[in-house]
Amino acid sequence: MRLPIVQRASAAPLGAFVRAHRASLLAQALLHGAVLLRGWNVGASDFGAVPAALGLDDFAYVGGAAPRTRVHGNVLTANDAPPSAKIPFHHELAQARVRPSHLLFCCDVPAARGGRTPLADSRALAAHVARKWPRVAARLDEGVTYERVLPPVDDAWSPIGRSWRSTFQCETREAAEAAMDDAGMEWEWRAGGDLLWTRTPALPAFRHAPESGELTFCNSILAAHLGWDDARNRGPTSVRFADTGEPVDAAFVADVHAHAVRERAAFAWRRGDVLLVDNSVTMHSREPFEGARRLWTLLCARRGAEEV
Ligand code: FE2
Repeated sequence: MRLPIVQRASAAPLGAFVRAHRASLLAQALLHGAVLLRGWNVGASDFGAVPAALGLDDFAYVGGAAPRTRVHGNVLTANDAPPSAKIPFHHELAQARVRPSHLLFCCDVPAARGGRTPLADSRALAAHVARKWPRVAARLDEGVTYERVLPPVDDAWSPIGRSWRSTFQCETREAAEAAMDDAGMEWEWRAGGDLLWTRTPALPAFRHAPESGELTFCNSILAAHLGWDDARNRGPTSVRFADTGEPVDAAFVADVHAHAVRERAAFAWRRGDVLLVDNSVTMHSREPFEGARRLWTLLCARRGAEEV
């Protein structure tokens, strides 16, 4: 996967540049998976204006697992989990019925070491799965389910430590139950009501990119199997074939992950970098790091968000 880098070439501020090149930036993000905008001295409020400059709507982070903190307007920290926490390749909110069409990241403080945001092309992964794992691919056509146990308050020690209150943006159990029922989820209060066990309905493992129609391996299978480990959850049993309820095979996950790592695009963040990711064709991940890395994120929706 090759990542185009657009370097600042004029005095135009980022917002004006993006507005003027909106169509080509979105087309490049779809073609290459993502575009890096480098050389603008971007603050949180400049960054917060990028979705509108691209002609995209803001997308609320409802149903996601990552502990995040609001920085400015809709700008959130990318993930508050400790530097050593694993965040393998995934599509943002692939475990939800509605997903952001695009993601934006902005680097406020680069890590002293590591902390890249590797990207993988889900079209290439779909082709790899179809070629090398046809029997698994046939089962995946029936979809997968994701199971997650949510804590009552955000747990910043876990990359999936978002509480049920934050996940569903509500205060009461009744409101959380209504949101889960709306999403077609199964759920159960456990440990006297302190923990919330959830299972999604069957969700596709493959999807077609909305604009190009290309087949993509658009899911959170790698991230769930390899990364959803914390005090409440076990990764390898958190993602299951919808047809039988069996966990997705470890050998399959290891092979697809290795392929994604081999083919990935990764770059070292510089302060002020802005990355536009097409969430319909590209997976992202986070490398462990050292130092005080601070990355911001914004979720965006094409006018008329995608549904399953
Ligand atoms: Fe993510």
